[in-house]
Amino acid sequence: MTTETPRLLRVLAGETLDRPPVWFMRQAGRSLPEYRELRARAKDFIAFCFDPEMAAEATMQPMRRFPMDAAIVFADILLLPQALGQEVWFEAGEGPRLGALPPIGALQDAIEGSTAKLASIGETLVRVRAELEPERALIGFAGAPWTVATYMLEGRGSQREAARTYAYEHPEELDALLNVLVESTARYLVMQAKAGAQALKLFESWADNLAEDVFERIVIGPHRRIVEKVRAAGVNTPFIGFPRSAGALVERYAAEVPVQAVALDTQASAALGRKIQAGGQAIQGALDNLLLRAGGPALDARVDTLLQQWSAGPYIFNLGHGVMPDTPIEHIARVVERVTGKSVKAMAAE
Ligand code: CP3
Repeated sequence: MTTETPRLLRVLAGETLDRPPVWFMRQAGRSLPEYRELRARAKDFIAFCFDPEMAAEATMQPMRRFPMDAAIVFADILLLPQALGQEVWFEAGEGPRLGALPPIGALQDAIEGSTAKLASIGETLVRVRAELEPERALIGFAGAPWTVATYMLEGRGSQREAARTYAYEHPEELDALLNVLVESTARYLVMQAKAGAQALKLFESWADNLAEDVFERIVIGPHRRIVEKVRAAGVNTPFIGFPRSAGALVERYAAEVPVQAVALDTQASAALGRKIQAGGQAIQGALDNLLLRAGGPALDARVDTLLQQWSAGPYIFNLGHGVMPDTPIEHIARVVERVTGKSVKAMAAE
């Protein structure tokens, strides 16, 4: 690959670079005043996500402010249940709420039309790709089936006890729901790749607290099937899998899911990351988002440690979870400067 190829894509192809590419989960969002201003103009959060002009603007905001190596399309993992016919809305200051779970037959019937209902996300990707410099990559994403299913089953963010109980008491019903999500997610990701996404990330934000056999069945299996379906559609876009808080099961995830990179959470050890790299996959992560918010000498020291422990293999610098809304912008700038060697002030003056 030439040096014009975005750093993120070089790492996803297995290269080790002189410095890792950097981007942050939730880099677009409430930590930026320009985001809060844009957000105030939208009717509600869902309408914001479905408006390609506004969503493209939100995607680009952090790219103008910081020398990030990748943009992630502004959308949400809960747009898919909405496209499958389950009502979704956001309560101010509280988070997502979902209406009653439609019967499985209705969900199965809705797969066919779901991608068309998400067409505006494709339009956002087209707009961003046209605006973004060629050396910066564009990432598309979806929620992973189990994580999305927890919201569909519980109707809100939760400790997932009801969803996990359902996995034991109604295994066939859960598998049917996961299958609907595998199929619709694969189609959605194919659409995103065709619209300009150069990498695809699966957010399994709630991979914690699962027994090994359950993890195999509801995380590893569905992730594998999504990647296989996307490949069967002729799409070779690299995947980043994020089995957050899966602890000791992350290694098994890396070995069994054919993703090009494994995104690690805050608790990931240096040894775990190196082992995944040695196995031929890239890793991403894993700065504590609370340390990013706290700042100070401990932040600098941790950034240096991460760079030192993982830069000898394919590595994407990122957080272990998304940017907190009240994170000082100077802390984000400081970390990105430390990783890239580029000055954020000089960028603002361009
Ligand atoms: O990372 C990015 O910058 C891209 C955009 C993105 C959003 N959500 C925008 C968003 C991405 C990748 C997501 C993924 C997402 N959404 C996940 C998985 C990743 C993770 O953080 O664990 C989950 C679990 C959701 C569901 C969701 N969306 C919740 C629980 C909430 C409410 C909590 C909150 O922060 O308010 C959202 C809302 C949401 N999604 C916001 C943003 C910028 C904030 C809404 C607002 O601006 O009012």
